[in-house]
Amino acid sequence: MSVDYDVIVIGGGPAGYVAAIRCAQLGLKTACIDNGLDANGKASLGGTCLNVGCIPSKALLQSSEMFEQANHEFASHGIKLASVELDLKTMMARKQQVVAELTGGIAALLKANKVDSITGSGRLLENKKVQVSEKTEKNIFTAEHIIIASGSSSVELAAAPLTENLIVDSTGALEFDSVPKKLGIVGAGVIGLELGSVWRRLGSEVMVIEAQDRFLPIADQQLARDALRAYKKQGLDIRLNARLLATEIKSIKQCKQVELRYQDEKGEHSAVFDKLIIAVGRKPNSDNVFDSEAELILDERSFIHVNDQCETSLPGVYAIGDVVRGPMLAHKGSEEGMMVAELIAGQYAAINYDLIPSVIYTHPEIAWVGKTEQQLKAAGENFNTGVFPFVASGRAKAQGDTRGMVKILAHRDTDRILGVHIMGGHASELIAQAVIAMQLGASAEDLALTVFAHPSLSETVHEAALAVDNRAIHIMQKR
Ligand code: FAD
Ligand code: NAI
Repeated sequence: MSVDYDVIVIGGGPAGYVAAIRCAQLGLKTACIDNGLDANGKASLGGTCLNVGCIPSKALLQSSEMFEQANHEFASHGIKLASVELDLKTMMARKQQVVAELTGGIAALLKANKVDSITGSGRLLENKKVQVSEKTEKNIFTAEHIIIASGSSSVELAAAPLTENLIVDSTGALEFDSVPKKLGIVGAGVIGLELGSVWRRLGSEVMVIEAQDRFLPIADQQLARDALRAYKKQGLDIRLNARLLATEIKSIKQCKQVELRYQDEKGEHSAVFDKLIIAVGRKPNSDNVFDSEAELILDERSFIHVNDQCETSLPGVYAIGDVVRGPMLAHKGSEEGMMVAELIAGQYAAINYDLIPSVIYTHPEIAWVGKTEQQLKAAGENFNTGVFPFVASGRAKAQGDTRGMVKILAHRDTDRILGVHIMGGHASELIAQAVIAMQLGASAEDLALTVFAHPSLSETVHEAALAVDNRAIHIMQKR
């Protein structure tokens, strides 16, 4: 039986479009079906990441950081500004321009690689047939291989249903047309902290309620504790162990506000906000992507069940990115996309899931790879720890950005690096050194023997590696 394509990819986010491009590079006839639309109803590739995730949030984090610096830091460098004024409309237009350039770039890349880009919703039927929702001349396509990359969506809470622009998810929180005076956030996870930082810098009073009693349990707790102190000092009012009970929209002086009721160990409380962001996690888009006749197996949390090679329960059908297990990160999805394309082309490919870096783009940034101290202790591993604070770095001092530390955990017997945790300026860039070192199986001594440029923030990684062996130069260590 002849098929239309070698590969059909459903979803054009960082998992799907990367898979499609890599398939095409490998000579496979490929189509990519995506239903993402921009605010004007035009097809917009790039998925959550480019349209309403990584990119617009980082654009606003950058702009708001510059606003904060102009307000509070320039003066200490001897730069006097007569006044600093926020032009939110321009800031938002710049963010949208960044998004438009990047999403347009993906469309151009697919075209240049001769991937057929199909706009519409794809649905997997039996026998690797895919139905496209949009009315086209032909709306059922067949392929030898299918890659599902349908991504994820925000989790909604019954106690706080989203309203037009009062109770919003992360997408709504990237589009406020004025700075809310009082901003509430449910969930002190990555989105709550990043978007809470954006709006606090622009002038909001921000309160975050978090159900868990531990702050950032996914991060090394030494850094998490320090980060919590830093955020609180900046003015983020983070309340742990606080459970959302209910919300109510109130009209106060002809102005609509949200009343939030929550409970903590001291009892029940209520607070009123101009906007409320719900940031309590994301769920896989696995409900509309396949027909029951396709008999794809989901796991207990509705992720499409896959093995380490991203093969689903159906031969020739793969699933990648946020719709499958593992961290919901763009780079994890993209790597899976490349791996699956190469496997389909008959090549060897694998991902080291232990070495996927995580970053929280607040100020200071937090970045890590490998195991935390708490995970190593729980696993009964013997390890040495090297910590170097940014306050002892000449470059950090010159930049006036000395909060945070680099922490390296290395095996006590082999010295192999098991985890690296960085909190500080440019941690998102510094962590790449650790990922490369760990990918190559480096020991802490390997990093200690490497020459780093002076003065650079990278020297903190060098000093932390020296500290593993108790021989950091620019801090006093117990001997
Ligand atoms: P998605 O990006 O969600 O793309 C899936 C695409 O498939 C979408 O275009 C969707 O419309 C389409 N689709 C769904 N169903 C169908 C169908 N049936 N037919 C056709 N098309 C379909 N990650 C990071 O690594 N770094 C960050 O800094 C970061 N910041 C973030 C900030 C925010 C505010 C949010 C919400 C997320 C952020 N993420 C970040 C997470 C990141 O966006 C996701 O991990 C990533 O986008 C997942 O990629 P994906 O391709 O699996 O899915
Ligand atoms: P998250 O899982 O990071 O955090 C959600 C938080 O909400 C958790 O701390 C959870 O305990 C809390 N929570 C859940 N229900 C609650 C309730 N009813 N009341 C109070 N708190 C509650 O999820 P988030 O922030 O929504 O982000 C989703 C995903 O998007 C992340 O897991 C991450 O994978 C991705 N992302 C990545 C970014 C990055 O890489 N820098 C940036 C933003 C998002």
